[in-house]
Amino acid sequence: MTWLMHYAAEQRLACYVVGGCVRDWLLARPVGDIDLVVEGDAIALAEAWTTVWPDQLHTHPPFGTATVSWLDAGALVSLDLISARRESYPQPAALPIVQFARLADDLARRDFTINCLALQLANQPTNVIDPHNGLVDLQRGLIRVLHKRSFIDDPTRILRALRFAARLEFRLEPSTAELLQQGLPWLDQTTPARLWNELGLLLSEPSAFKALSLADEWGVLQQLCGCAWPQALNHQAQCLLPNLPNEQLAISWLLLMSQLSPNAAQAQTKRFGLPKPIRQAVGQWHALATTAAMLNTTLSAGKLDRLLSPFEPLVLQVWASTQTPLVQQQIAYYLQALRPIASQLSGRDLQAQGIKPGPEYKTLLAAARERQLDQFAAENPNLC
Ligand code: CTP
Repeated sequence: MTWLMHYAAEQRLACYVVGGCVRDWLLARPVGDIDLVVEGDAIALAEAWTTVWPDQLHTHPPFGTATVSWLDAGALVSLDLISARRESYPQPAALPIVQFARLADDLARRDFTINCLALQLANQPTNVIDPHNGLVDLQRGLIRVLHKRSFIDDPTRILRALRFAARLEFRLEPSTAELLQQGLPWLDQTTPARLWNELGLLLSEPSAFKALSLADEWGVLQQLCGCAWPQALNHQAQCLLPNLPNEQLAISWLLLMSQLSPNAAQAQTKRFGLPKPIRQAVGQWHALATTAAMLNTTLSAGKLDRLLSPFEPLVLQVWASTQTPLVQQQIAYYLQALRPIASQLSGRDLQAQGIKPGPEYKTLLAAARERQLDQFAAENPNLC
């Protein structure tokens, strides 16, 4: 950074730290990646830097941006260098046309006043540059757009507003709330990839479940995927997290999709291009629903195992949280006690007994496993 400061001064390039990192620094929150706006050619600056410091460089010439990454105490740190730019939207929800410009233009193209704060990179301390009164909104805990068309130009900002509101515990400023409502139909014009970009971030944050409640309250979920997020789901999701700490995104998505019909859930999951394990989990969820009546009667260990073994443990755990105590108890017993047990009989044993390999192997092995588990349950009644 010191090198960058000297080099920029030498080249008479004005550089500013901008956006989320200034916001988070002022809120005394952990600062993530740093965005640096350059009134000039950001790519040339990044290239000059990496000739002196051999850090990783990625350039994006159509946008005049570059990312420099390096390891700091084992963690990967990134700095985005952005050529100050003006943006215009050829049509609502389309990608913007970019022209190089001054810092003021660059700040004016942004989403919310709290993200339009800048600090000049200089040798001596400077004041925060705040052309849109973001400091006042930061103090008052308000999310405010810069102009009336903001959500129409870029409807993904609706999802960003949710993310910041949940994360920072901020509120929408009243006229921004109205504009957001007017912007909702434009979500339909936005490509699913861009929507998922933001939605995936939202569902991965610690405040994801809160964001989903807000999304329900603001009508975003209804517009986005035709479903709701009832308050009860918040509690269920929170209870699941300690056992599935790395599965927050899958938990949120499965519970959300459980509000839809099987076909609609599959269609939404496909539309947003979710990863294969989640797509399969959504399919399994609805297949599991057809077993609910059976699971609501007490099953023998062998039958329970036979019924549940086709399903992934993640789906079983999340689905169980939406079911009766008896179903929950049987699924927990299956996952903890039965599933880890290896089958005593294998295909090789059947071959050794002189049974010709064929379709009946499956039946014989399943029946043997059922007997084995029933015996296990009889010998370990305290585990049931
Ligand atoms: N931005 C925007 N409209 C968008 C996306 C981004 O105006 N649809 C602007 C915002 O000013 C934002 C900056 O680009 O501050 C950088 O984007 P990003 O890194 O996504 O935002 P951060 O505020 O840094 O978010 P986070 O704290 O989650 O990293």
